[in-house]
Amino acid sequence: MTEDTDDKATDGKALTRRALLVGLGAAGGAGAMYAAMGALGLAPDRQADDYTPPQRSDFTLRGRGAASVVILGAGVAGLAVAYELGKAGYDCTILEARDRIGGRSLTIRGGDRLPELSGETQQARFGEGIYFNAGPARIAQWMLTLDYCRELGVPIEPFVNDNASAYVYNTGMKAPVRARTARADIYGYVSELLAKATNAGALDRRLTPGDKELLLDFLSEFGDIGKSYTYDGSERRGYRVEPGVSAPVPLGPPPPLQEVLRYGLGRTIAFPFGYEQAMPMFQPVGGMDSLARRLADAVGRDKIRTSVEVKKITNLPDGVQIEHTGGSTKAQYCVAAMPPHILARIPGNLGTQVVSALATPKPVSGGKIGLEYRRRWWETDDRIYGGITETDMDISHIWYPSYGFHGSRGLVVGYYNLGDDADAYARLTHAERESRALRQGVRIHGDKYRTELLSSVSIAWRRQPHIEGAWVSWPSFEAPFRLLQQPAGRVYFAGDWLTHLIAWQAGALESARKVVTQLHTRVVKEN
Ligand code: ALA
Repeated sequence: MTEDTDDKATDGKALTRRALLVGLGAAGGAGAMYAAMGALGLAPDRQADDYTPPQRSDFTLRGRGAASVVILGAGVAGLAVAYELGKAGYDCTILEARDRIGGRSLTIRGGDRLPELSGETQQARFGEGIYFNAGPARIAQWMLTLDYCRELGVPIEPFVNDNASAYVYNTGMKAPVRARTARADIYGYVSELLAKATNAGALDRRLTPGDKELLLDFLSEFGDIGKSYTYDGSERRGYRVEPGVSAPVPLGPPPPLQEVLRYGLGRTIAFPFGYEQAMPMFQPVGGMDSLARRLADAVGRDKIRTSVEVKKITNLPDGVQIEHTGGSTKAQYCVAAMPPHILARIPGNLGTQVVSALATPKPVSGGKIGLEYRRRWWETDDRIYGGITETDMDISHIWYPSYGFHGSRGLVVGYYNLGDDADAYARLTHAERESRALRQGVRIHGDKYRTELLSSVSIAWRRQPHIEGAWVSWPSFEAPFRLLQQPAGRVYFAGDWLTHLIAWQAGALESARKVVTQLHTRVVKEN
């Protein structure tokens, strides 16, 4: 190992960013100010800020090199562990059971094959430039994923997660309506009801007369109900003839309150309010797998062995022995960055408590279909540029692409469903999934949804070899979850499933950093 002369350490220990902040805080400087901002809710505490990457200089005064580490799984967590440990010169080997890196961060392009445990293999026929993010597809602004995109030079672009022009359609509705129309109606009616309750004195025990005035002012604006406090429609609903040279023609009066309530649009309307789903969101340009690829390049492709299935994990006094389909690999430490339900089935000597903890979180079913169209009718005909149509049918959502605007072809996600709905699709052949998704999409978009289709690929995550789930769900974040935060002997565990950010790459990255810190601290101490 070469020694790094660009050493921040003065006493053999790196001066961490956290220590620096604590120091500044003690002196009442920027750290204290930042902490105070956090307490005021102005700047949330960022877990990512607690991290200091291992570096070669951490070993400088010890005269020894970093350790060897075998990493099980080349998903985002495994790749990030190797990438971070690589910064300090660790000798990492990644064993990956699938024939490609990235794990669930899977982007499918023309020519790709997608085998399933059912035995069926799909072959993507997408045209040039068309891709389908079959796994993760959106990144929130606060997520660590963006920090890695920045660090690794992965260009990003906005992902449209919420579009007022997209539709909402629940089966109780006569026809789909634009999200803007549905929102205008429900906000309008709710504002009217609350204003009337306020004016009738129903809130007198909660609100002073001054508060009531403020609430009424708010409702007047929020629901666009003026000072009559009655909702009888709003320009926010949209137009039958849009403004131009001629005067606009409004859509017309809203349906009665009772009908709007029967739409059952609570989930649909609340969705973009969520901390994880609020706009703006982002995606890597060219496909989500850009991040995993860039991580793999930084790690070194020669350090990653694909199509190697782990058969046995043995903790030894001086290392970890991995038996696999490509032979046997021994390293001083192991980081198991695989799905827990699969790890739990692998023989070895991790101990019954650890194996039982690994078997505790249950895999969640999830599925998606990518529908490639010969023309971007959602842009030209429906004036929908990205975003999501929400429905209570078992397709759950239709996603319009946030890339390739005004291009010739485009790819729509024709379903993204979970649980029983995903299981129902998983049981079907690909051709059956496609026709079921098309039947439902036609109810929203009409015949073009079927006639303009060129090709499609569907994924049932429970049926993906070596993954077998979209993500996992823990019954609680208690003992088994906590147990796996610690190593079992020389075996560490990493993945989104060990965080409070399950089903996000950011979770995998946060977990990777935590394990890297634990492992590195131990190695620096023990070496
Ligand atoms: N991260 C997953 C999504 O955004 C849950 O759909």
